[in-house]
Amino acid sequence: MYKNNIFEGNSSYSSIYKPILANNFENQGESSDLCSMMFTPEHLTRFNGLATPFFYYDLSLLQKTIEAAAKQASRHGFHIHYALKANANREILQPIVAAGFGADCVSGNEVLRALETGFAPEKIVFAGVGKSDKEIKTALEKDIFCFNVESVEELQVIEGLAAQIGKTATVALRVNPLVEAHTHQYITTGTAENKFGIPPRDFDTLLQLLPALSHIRVIGLHTHIGSQICNMDNFKNTCLKFNEIRRWFEQHDLHFTDLNIGGGLGVDYQHPDDNPIPDFQNYFDTINRYLERTPQQQVHFELGRSIVAQCGSLITRVLYTKQGENKRFAIVDAGMTELIRPALYQAYHKIQALKAPQVAALIYDVVGPICESSDFFGKDVALPMLQRGDLLAIRTAGAYGEVMSSNYNLREKAPAIYMPAL
Ligand code: LLP
Repeated sequence: MYKNNIFEGNSSYSSIYKPILANNFENQGESSDLCSMMFTPEHLTRFNGLATPFFYYDLSLLQKTIEAAAKQASRHGFHIHYALKANANREILQPIVAAGFGADCVSGNEVLRALETGFAPEKIVFAGVGKSDKEIKTALEKDIFCFNVESVEELQVIEGLAAQIGKTATVALRVNPLVEAHTHQYITTGTAENKFGIPPRDFDTLLQLLPALSHIRVIGLHTHIGSQICNMDNFKNTCLKFNEIRRWFEQHDLHFTDLNIGGGLGVDYQHPDDNPIPDFQNYFDTINRYLERTPQQQVHFELGRSIVAQCGSLITRVLYTKQGENKRFAIVDAGMTELIRPALYQAYHKIQALKAPQVAALIYDVVGPICESSDFFGKDVALPMLQRGDLLAIRTAGAYGEVMSSNYNLREKAPAIYMPAL
């Protein structure tokens, strides 16, 4: 494995610190002061001794993010359930549990992971459009707080399974509000095209059915319109539609003690150092302003990306550089197997070279080793001249990175490292 010390020959602190500061290019519009926030010489010394690729998690940033979210939510008495789907590493879950957050799970195994890491059962919500019988039974046996039910048929299945084991399931009705989220179509969930939530056309059937379901206790109304949403108008529109739906149910004598508005708050992929912590204040204030409720009604959120995205980076080494017919390629040892977001959603992730600056920036396509043309991290990225062994950080990879990794091409799972060390 490479032991390419990028600081060789540099002895003073400033001479080794500056190179990382200097990784800013006009076409990326960043300030040099902030570029260094994630990586110090201490990090790089450690990275240089490690096999790549690996995920690096900044636990102090995670802690600050958790605290910021908790502080802003508590101003309104809101409850946060962390969405394990974004990152379910035990080391990441630990400080989230310690902050008193609940958990939002979408599989039986996520429910078990949440319990195992210390989330209280009475703070676990279980969503998902296709919960299996086994998963439902697991959650019933563990007495979780709430099932977010996504169809009339699912409600009937939960009734049957709860009856079998003599339990009552507490549920929230996940409704499809038919609200556009203005995000990537693959992470939009609340429109007529989407499979998620109970469609308004089924509300009447639902009401007729409910009295017969003696093992179901409806406590909540739930919705979620999508992910990586940065414009608060989308959340405002969700609240307005949600208010309407809630009123309709109440007029039909179905009342809720709990309102769950889902997750979806976006993060700044372009400028992770300028905005390492999302604007939780604006987000919660928006919901507080537009979500109608009584003082008794509890309001829940399911935040994933906004809690963990910025604390993680995928660290990879350049294997080869190659001048193609039209493009200069940096071929790195991480691929879509570690971070599939660029291939799947054409997602932008900032790529930062962890090496001394060069006067001239070169333009690279940063690509992985997988046998797929969609296996790239960035196109036309301005970077210092790269050579075999150079380290790159692919930023904002803490959410939906490691959890979505695969062993396609029989690749090994990339390990995770944490700093400060655990
Ligand atoms: N609640 C429900 C019901 C959800 O479906 C999701 C995400 C969340 C909460 C958490 O949303 P967040 O706060 O993380 O935006 N793999 C995609 C994201 C998929 C999101 C799926 N649902 C990506 O990499 O962008």
